[in-house]
Amino acid sequence: MKLVNEILPHFVDRNTALRNLRISYKHDETKFIMSTRNKPGLQNYDTGQNEKNGAVLSFCYERKAFIQNVIKSCVAPEMEPLVKPKKIAIDFSSPNIAKPFHAGHLRSTVIGNFIANVHTYFDNVVTKINYLGDWGTQFGLLQYGLKALDIDLKELKSNPLKTLYDVYVHANKLAATNDNVIQEARKYFSDIEHGRMNLENWKKIREVTIEELEKVYKRLGIQFDVYLWESDYNGEAIKPLMEYLERENIIRSDESGKKTAKINGRDVTVLKSDNSTIYISRDIASLLDKYKKYEFDKMLYVVENAQTGHFADLFEIVKQIDNKYVDGCEHIKFGRVRGMSTRTGNVVFLNDILDEAKNKMHEKQTLSKNTRRTAMNEETCDILGTSAVIINDLKQKRQKDYVFDWDRALQSEGDSGIKLQYLHCRLWSLEQNCGIALPDICEPEHLTEEVIGNVIAELAKFESVLHKSLEEYEACILLSYLFRLARYVNRMFNEVQVKNVENDLAAQRLLVFHCARLVVKTGLEILGVKPLTEM
Ligand code: ARG
Repeated sequence: MKLVNEILPHFVDRNTALRNLRISYKHDETKFIMSTRNKPGLQNYDTGQNEKNGAVLSFCYERKAFIQNVIKSCVAPEMEPLVKPKKIAIDFSSPNIAKPFHAGHLRSTVIGNFIANVHTYFDNVVTKINYLGDWGTQFGLLQYGLKALDIDLKELKSNPLKTLYDVYVHANKLAATNDNVIQEARKYFSDIEHGRMNLENWKKIREVTIEELEKVYKRLGIQFDVYLWESDYNGEAIKPLMEYLERENIIRSDESGKKTAKINGRDVTVLKSDNSTIYISRDIASLLDKYKKYEFDKMLYVVENAQTGHFADLFEIVKQIDNKYVDGCEHIKFGRVRGMSTRTGNVVFLNDILDEAKNKMHEKQTLSKNTRRTAMNEETCDILGTSAVIINDLKQKRQKDYVFDWDRALQSEGDSGIKLQYLHCRLWSLEQNCGIALPDICEPEHLTEEVIGNVIAELAKFESVLHKSLEEYEACILLSYLFRLARYVNRMFNEVQVKNVENDLAAQRLLVFHCARLVVKTGLEILGVKPLTEM
């Protein structure tokens, strides 16, 4: 934003300055104050002084100039990047085939998509990676089940994820009562792991899985740049790397034949005694592969808290190969969700949750007398439902566990996705129906009300809020901002009129509402929600 760019050159460390930006509005003195803090110990360009304590610098803006600047920056956002763009790779969603897409995967999907969007907003080059789990002894079991049930892979065409899941469940049941099943599954896995059997039918499973998943991702407005498969890093494929680790003494055989790495005096298994790979061996190989392919500055893994140990070990092991691979790596953790289920029982597929949200929204829309008849369609209910689920998740502090509650997620009062959609529709409808054209220039002399000053001050914060959300990987920072903005905009709706007032005045007020709409729209899009114009 222009405003921020104006003061940033005064700072050596733009990140710190942006992060600490505060804007306040004093109505009685008709001025805006923008203040921020320099990083402790850094020199200030202007004064040549060492700002030992990260002195606070305040910039006082005359009301008129400030309003003009903010409006301009909303209507035509400055293109010049605020901070240097980077190459960011993000591993997120990453479900396992034939296993439930649980609430943890949903959180990873929603949080990861937000992190990708906010990085893209700041001109970073982002690669969205979905690392699908399709390897391990369990998949031997799946293969066993496919054979036992004589399932033709062509049949997977209709509802393939469900079919694979059922087969997997069936095979697990067989295995519980029959040891031979496990033996066979193990043998099967070991055979494909060591290249003794071809992976033809695996390709088919991958194909239908991706097709099916993409339908759901599309519903959420998410597109991945790359699908990687755990099986890409199977025993045969990563043998040279494992041999290298052994030569470099990073892994060693123990008495049972397993190969382990030492991390802070602890032994961490990397290969099983028959040299079969496990989750971490494949992740070591895939990290190096991602580094090579995407030359990332940052590699973010958006995966639940429960895998903290796994990622700590992964980074420690790869560090022993070379620091450079892990310098940019980070595990972006998040807490558990409890209670997310549908009427029919536990969540198995993401689609079920989105259907449930859509249907519940449909019921609500039908009951509400405010619903526009033209908005009573499937698409709108679907978008409202997904908005509710996404925003309900993103408004939580990332690392906190929370309990999912349908009523709270779908409420139109309180801080919900429905409320933000409603605000966007209301602003849109005002622009469309007030019969006044948007003016080309901003004339602040018409914008004298205190509430307008408050809205402007909020609009001015947008970029720094986004920047803070990016730095902390916290969508809730952006969301509390949007909810606060919504409160001011609603107050503005109550306190100032656009209809039945003199034309210039109406047009200038409309311009402020318009800017608010643009900020809400951009905000929703970054959160991964499609803004509605009617509901
Ligand atoms: N498929 C894994 C799971 O469901 C998550 C994978 C996360 N990404 C990774 N590179 N390990 O638990």
